[in-house]
Amino acid sequence: MSKEYITKIETAAGYISGKFNGKKPFAGIVLGSGLGELAEKIENKTIIPYSQIPHFAKSTAVGHKGNLIAGELGGKFVVAMQGRFHYYEGYGMDQVTLPVRVMKLLGISCFFVSNAAGGVNPEYRVGDLMLIKDHINLMPNPLVGQNLEEFGPRFPDMTRPYDRELMKMAQSIAQKMGISLKTGVYLAGTGPTYETPAEYNYFRTIGADAVGMSTVPEVIVARHSSIPTFGISVITNEAFGFSDDFVNDGDDVVKAANEASGKLEKIIIELISQL
Ligand code: HPA
Repeated sequence: MSKEYITKIETAAGYISGKFNGKKPFAGIVLGSGLGELAEKIENKTIIPYSQIPHFAKSTAVGHKGNLIAGELGGKFVVAMQGRFHYYEGYGMDQVTLPVRVMKLLGISCFFVSNAAGGVNPEYRVGDLMLIKDHINLMPNPLVGQNLEEFGPRFPDMTRPYDRELMKMAQSIAQKMGISLKTGVYLAGTGPTYETPAEYNYFRTIGADAVGMSTVPEVIVARHSSIPTFGISVITNEAFGFSDDFVNDGDDVVKAANEASGKLEKIIIELISQL
């Protein structure tokens, strides 16, 4: 399995780098639900639909376009995923995280992730941005199975999953721009159901500030390869103090993410330009 998997990663990376004229991307970016607009800010774009990349899965989730977009952002050559693969779509963790390993082979020096998340911290409001300082993984761990020694150790350290220097820089950028940026813990469940009120309450109790269905598998795989990682959640729903008639709705989540995406774009572009 592992040899076969490594061949898939190498084939996909070879196909993509063939389109880059030998240019090495500085950063890899994953754009979550409703956050794909950042890709529009990339200049001199090369757009590669996932369907053309060998061994990439198909993007089926709402608000996920399914393109790999490479080009200049903040003055640097970056590669961005406009839409990601989720475990809830039925993909195995090997498929969910394959693009991260491909980016590793392409030579990225840092990894940026974004997502839409429900805020379980009662101080959070729809449209807030949360810098991810840590996570709780309630999904299967993508590193279960034979270790890919070429990519990293059997027992990777997870004491600092999110890069502190990048976090500090983002905080100071947000402050200068007058954008409020919360800092918190992201909890990943499998979905696809949204949580029950009792589950949201439980997640808050065990230390989460925001809850979602993605990101952590990709971060674990990036950290396995020691890639400095940075993450931001857009709070798309307030998951506490429910009124009797409250319901969660996927379309509202994508709409809220779209509305907040401008702030996220500004921070990420400035951060990349300062690196
Ligand atoms: N729960 C899980 N995933 C989510 C949520 C939520 O409340 N909001 C956006 N993604």
